[in-house]
Amino acid sequence: MTRTLIRGGLVVTAADEIHADVLIEGSRVAALAASGSHAAAGWTADRVVDATGRYVLPGGVDAHTHMEMPFGGTRSSDTFETGTRAAAWGGTTTIVDFAIQSVGGSLRAGLDAWHAKADGRCAIDYGFHMILSDVTEASLAEMDALVAEGVTSFKLFMAYPGVFYSDDGKILRAMQRAAGNGGLIMMHAENGIAIDVLVEQALAAGRTDPRYHGEVRKALLEAEATHRAVQLARVAGAPLYVVHVSAAEAVAELSAARQLGLDVYGETCPQYLFLSADDLARPGFEGAKYVCSTPLRPAEHQEALWRALRTDDLSVVSTDHCPFCFTGQKDLGRGDFSKIPNGLPGVEHRMDLLHQAVVEGRISRRRWIELACAAPARMFGLHPRKGTIAPGSDADIVLYDPAATQTLSAAGHHMNVDHSVYEGRRITGRVETVLSRGVPVIEERRWTGRAGHGRYLPRAVGTYPRQP
Ligand code: URP
Ligand code: ZN
Ligand code: ZN
Ligand code: ZN
Repeated sequence: MTRTLIRGGLVVTAADEIHADVLIEGSRVAALAASGSHAAAGWTADRVVDATGRYVLPGGVDAHTHMEMPFGGTRSSDTFETGTRAAAWGGTTTIVDFAIQSVGGSLRAGLDAWHAKADGRCAIDYGFHMILSDVTEASLAEMDALVAEGVTSFKLFMAYPGVFYSDDGKILRAMQRAAGNGGLIMMHAENGIAIDVLVEQALAAGRTDPRYHGEVRKALLEAEATHRAVQLARVAGAPLYVVHVSAAEAVAELSAARQLGLDVYGETCPQYLFLSADDLARPGFEGAKYVCSTPLRPAEHQEALWRALRTDDLSVVSTDHCPFCFTGQKDLGRGDFSKIPNGLPGVEHRMDLLHQAVVEGRISRRRWIELACAAPARMFGLHPRKGTIAPGSDADIVLYDPAATQTLSAAGHHMNVDHSVYEGRRITGRVETVLSRGVPVIEERRWTGRAGHGRYLPRAVGTYPRQP
């Protein structure tokens, strides 16, 4: 068994910051000891990595990605191979992607199809949530089997009528089932029925540009759906996780629910923290690059999101990575914003953008790791194997140079998409070396990983909802 010693860095976890040496045996962390201490001095290793001046971080856990997702008449442009490689370049060593039940199909068939896309192709470890598009007696019964085999979370949509949409009765039934089997319901909270009326009216009035995507998907309709999802979850006695929260009014609904002590959790994404409706309104058809749902909001919403990330009213930052090329994909919606495939690329930049927030004093270093690593790992049943650096945890470790600077750009990124929504943005901090289960996948900014190294992760029921 290979013994690797990472020496001299600042180990940052959600709980601690300590100057410590980390000993890895094979694929796991074996021990930590204060740098230069008696214990550390006695350790021998086959490989010694000098981390002086670097942060030693747990690999990022991105609990919301869509590789090769069929959507809007096309499919997201990253495969499991290219998308997981890009994730690793950005210091993320675990993704949880979404398998999709097709309407009329079984959960099993959807899950099998996603295994077939991912198996043998991922550079880092991966798990699956299940999207429920067709809540029936049969699919409800299948939920129990999925939870038992490690697919312990289920996404439902209050948006996209005719595609993924479930009505309140179906949502309530799925929540009741989850209350019984320990699964976690993840909600896309937007009132899609009302939004579709506004879409139709906007198009009829000739308002076809990308920016109208943001105008019809109103903050109030996100807040209303969030409120309704909370009440349905209360009635069902189930915990609730609201994905991609973007509106200040929706945050207020989560805060109110949490004030009541409810098992309600929220996730936001870097695009809502760093981009805004101004990007959607970029001239020409440029705004199409910024079309995602929930939509980018006016910049005034961002303060509420940052505050909620500090108070834990938002507990997780994931990317909702769902890239579509500008040429040939976003293009499908020229002259009709409702035909622009929804989704933004971002799996590569989450750790860096959140580090930028640390540099700017918005969150602490430990909160960075909590939001990007530990909380998603706990929420989705991967902790303490993932999300921390502790004896026994997987040696998914990032050496991060907090002083390096970089400029984000499509010219240098690794995602399979022809543009960057963060083009030209300056970031302080950069990933230098990445280990996945003890194996270097990036060594001093050189790719050493391989497709197929990543393993499927059956997940336990999340512990976060029951441990405030
Ligand atoms: O625009 C988005 N978010 N696309 C991905 C699908 C979803 O709703 O998460
Ligand atoms: Zn969604
Ligand atoms: Zn309310
Ligand atoms: Zn998504």
